[in-house]
Amino acid sequence: MSTLDFLVRRNQLATTELRETPESPLSEGQIRLGVDKFALTANNITYAAFGDAMNYWSFYPAQAGWGLIPVWGFGTVLESGCPGIAVGERFYGYYPMSSQTVLQPVRLSPAGFSEGAAHRAALHAVYNSYSRCATDPFHTAQTEDVEALLRPLFITSWLIDDFLADQDFFGVGANGSGVVLLSSASSKTAYGTAFQLAQRKGIEVVGLTSAANREFCNSLGCYHQVLGYDELDHLTADMVCVFVDFAGNAALRREIHTRFGNLKYSCSVGGTHVGQLGGAKDLPGPRATLFFAPAQIKKRTAEWGAQELGQRLLLAWQAFVATVSDPVAPWLVVQHHSGPAAVNAAYARVLGGRGDPRSGHMLSLVPISPV
Ligand SMILES: NC(=O)c1ccc[n+]([C@@H]2O[C@H](COP(=O)([O-])OP(=O)(O)OC[C@H]3O[C@@H](n4cnc5c(N)ncnc54)[C@H](OP(=O)(O)O)[C@@H]3O)[C@@H](O)[C@H]2O)c1
Repeated sequence: MSTLDFLVRRNQLATTELRETPESPLSEGQIRLGVDKFALTANNITYAAFGDAMNYWSFYPAQAGWGLIPVWGFGTVLESGCPGIAVGERFYGYYPMSSQTVLQPVRLSPAGFSEGAAHRAALHAVYNSYSRCATDPFHTAQTEDVEALLRPLFITSWLIDDFLADQDFFGVGANGSGVVLLSSASSKTAYGTAFQLAQRKGIEVVGLTSAANREFCNSLGCYHQVLGYDELDHLTADMVCVFVDFAGNAALRREIHTRFGNLKYSCSVGGTHVGQLGGAKDLPGPRATLFFAPAQIKKRTAEWGAQELGQRLLLAWQAFVATVSDPVAPWLVVQHHSGPAAVNAAYARVLGGRGDPRSGHMLSLVPISPV
């Protein structure tokens, strides 16, 4: 069998190529997994946009100038040279946009394994961890598309809310006033954050979004107010506020820092506005600070223990999944795209930021077998 890789030109993300390579034999301890399906959201486009600066191209190295975008999804073991991992086992984790991949499991446990390939040793542990679906408390067969689409995003959302609460929201809500402002409010990571923030008493959450996505944001019910990017003047300039930035839009960030003299904290999480990204130097107000999720995990693990942290995350996750999957008014509607042509079209759509924010795109490069 051969492997299909969906490659993108690193300096021109709209240029893609499908490459087929023959399978090579496994080395000792390696496993070959079929990449069954994976989610594609703006988060993956951000991995690509920051591929060089933040090493996202290093997980699955490709030919010079080309990159394999990492994605979250599910793989099934097709061949195993690793005792303790059986053919047919299924793992959730960080895969390439490919039909198959080869990993080198180390530190096996009933929960899963860590990827031990030398080229990934210096990369963050969170991306090197693969969970056995059979024992993973976050996993259910019925919700696995939602899991691939939202799990890595929601963990970040939960941690942002926890971080802000841990800092007493930098004074927002202290005297019954002030707001937390979220950009790209229609993004999954932003609405996950709003879902958590909305459960806090006295915290008003304002979502900023593009005109086309206002109605969607309003329909979720987790924002107290939804404004277009050109409606910042609907908010009083002297209000106490915190900005949580998922858009990474340099002009919007400058406008917010300039307008709100009582901006207490500016938290940089994402870069969905991939055509308008830019530096944050010489801004009025607080320094725009990159949100580093592992730091909050480390702090809470030290304070609560890993088990308590895991339990809190699991309970929050289950409540979130129930809400987004509401049969009457779902926040997320999954769309499947199978085969190279469908993957290419879905990639172009997600890259362009077009389409319905309610859609969650699940992709698979495994060719559909002839009946
Ligand atoms: N730092 C971390 O640890 C971390 C973790 C998770 C996610 N994130 C980041 O959070 C951001 C959101 O990710 P997601 O996967 O949740 O996003 P998503 O659900 O795919 O977001 C879709 C929304 O993003 C905006 N958008 C997407 N592409 C665009 C384009 N080309 N031009 C303009 N707007 C575009 C639009 O929102 P609006 O119209 O509302 O602007 C769109 O509705 C990403 O940048 C991601 O990397 C960071």
